[in-house]
Amino acid sequence: EEDSDLEIRPPVVTVMGHVDHGKTKLLDAIRQANVVAGEAGGITQHIGAYQVWTEHEGHERAITFIDTPGHEAFTAMRARGAQVTDLAILVVAADDGIMPQTVEALNHAQAAGIPIVVAVNKVDKPGANPAKVRQQLTEFGLVAEEYGGDTMFVDVSALTNTGIPALLDAVLLTADAGLDLRANPNKDARGVAIEARLDKGRGAVATVLIQSGTLRVGDSIVAGTAYGKVRAMFDEDGVAVPEAAPARPVQVQGLSTVPRAGDTFLVIEDDRTARQIAEKREAVERNAQLARARKRITLEDFT
Ligand code: GTP
Ligand code: NA
Ligand code: MG
Repeated sequence: EEDSDLEIRPPVVTVMGHVDHGKTKLLDAIRQANVVAGEAGGITQHIGAYQVWTEHEGHERAITFIDTPGHEAFTAMRARGAQVTDLAILVVAADDGIMPQTVEALNHAQAAGIPIVVAVNKVDKPGANPAKVRQQLTEFGLVAEEYGGDTMFVDVSALTNTGIPALLDAVLLTADAGLDLRANPNKDARGVAIEARLDKGRGAVATVLIQSGTLRVGDSIVAGTAYGKVRAMFDEDGVAVPEAAPARPVQVQGLSTVPRAGDTFLVIEDDRTARQIAEKREAVERNAQLARARKRITLEDFT
């Protein structure tokens, strides 16, 4: 791929942290801060991922957020070989400080080699001690800029909507400083399924993140062992979109079955080939399952 084929894309961000430290609330607050929000009547559709636009150093910039229910999903996707996120926001409640899952989350992010921005949340609470959070995290190699390190810490309150623009700025500053955010939009799309489910009326619906190329309605795709023609695509506001560029999450309809989180997808020239690839993958999986079952029986027989 030529350098000239590559265009800047938004960073893809995951929010991680200890139970109840405010990940979901923070994602809600960030979504409300979207400078183009409100156009679709404020009906928020849960699609597992969304993009927000923010004003950064005089430019309108997009950031993609993946709304994983926890770092379990992040780990499961990584185990499938899907490197989905560019950057992690580590949420730490300022009244609780570092907790076991805070450490787990930062270990996962560090193992994935992605930069971390720390959101010190719940600073509105009486017992909040944001300085202590900074001090605690130095032990784990996350040293705040104000203490001579290179990790950005931002005090926020997802409850009172405080510090959200500063957090988005920190995300973009960190991304621009350490990441190559480029992809070629002018080719067939490739990406990863973030989540998927079976909908009564609409069949298999999958939230996919485009990683390169552009996905269009009418494209034939394979995602894991699922295949099909993209019948319709929707953004996080439930608005139908004709195409999706790199780092854009969209909900796709038209797949034969439900792919798994972390399954990669790609566009295939024609429907028949897409179907053949999916069927071949399914046969391979079935054989592997049979082999595992046989092995279990054999072991049990002799123990
Ligand atoms: P899990 O998904 O269960 O791990 O929790 P979470 O990290 O998503 O936390 P969640 O957003 O559900 O918030 C947990 C509780 O903390 C809720 O009662 C929130 O209302 C509250 N909360 C979140 N952010 C803030 C904040 O900035 N200030 C205060 N005072 N409460 C907050
Ligand atoms: Na919670
Ligand atoms: Mg949550």
